[in-house]
Amino acid sequence: MRILVIGATGQVGRTAVAALQGHEIVSASRGTDPSVDITDTASIERLFASIGQVDAVVVAVGEVPFRPLADLGRADYESALSGKVLSQLDVVRIGTPYVRDGGSITLTSGILSREPIAAGAAASLANGALESFVLAAATELPRGIRINAVSPSVLEDAPSYHSSFPGFVPVSSHRVGQAFAKSVLGVQTGRVLAVD
Ligand SMILES: NC(=O)c1ccc[n+]([C@@H]2O[C@H](COP(=O)([O-])OP(=O)(O)OC[C@H]3O[C@@H](n4cnc5c(N)ncnc54)[C@H](OP(=O)(O)O)[C@@H]3O)[C@@H](O)[C@H]2O)c1
Repeated sequence: MRILVIGATGQVGRTAVAALQGHEIVSASRGTDPSVDITDTASIERLFASIGQVDAVVVAVGEVPFRPLADLGRADYESALSGKVLSQLDVVRIGTPYVRDGGSITLTSGILSREPIAAGAAASLANGALESFVLAAATELPRGIRINAVSPSVLEDAPSYHSSFPGFVPVSSHRVGQAFAKSVLGVQTGRVLAVD
């Protein structure tokens, strides 16, 4: 399979790349060639025009502000929605015509949709929005294209985040990678693949 992984150099993206070894991986982020900034629709259009058809798209990117509820302003919510939700939805919208029949799109949300942490309300909002989108989009995507969200807990390999997730059991990169493998190589669609 030819698989586009956006955010392939990140902690989560690396798990997908490792789990999909043996396939042709096209890695893209702001710092790669080809490059893409998924907060810029013209950049997404240029990426797909340059790489052409793929069997699968994985998006492992998403910026959200972490701030106490009382300090979260409208701009923070807009930032969460544009940085994590609309950016991934733009990849779905622009990228779908480039996905081959029967292919797949996999987005990345996260455990904060189902289990809160302090200062995480904007992130929970973004993750929940992505997961609800996936449930509905799966029913309307054309040509047998599947869509899922991988929704991991905090990764073992992200120790700088661990103190913000008290009582959470960090998950291995291997398990997160297997969720991406299930989404890309399996038959699931419209699913939130939680890794807790
Ligand atoms: N780490 C965790 O424990 C964890 C757990 C659950 C969910 N998540 C979610 O997983 C996603 C990725 O997190 P991460 O921890 O892997 O982040 P990360 O380590 O900072 O990696 C981010 C990746 O995305 C790329 N990227 C960043 N902004 C981009 C943009 N605007 N356009 C294109 N590429 C961009 C980066 O490369 P460039 O800098 O070259 O662009 C990098 O490859 C986030 O949505 C996060 O909330 C993470």
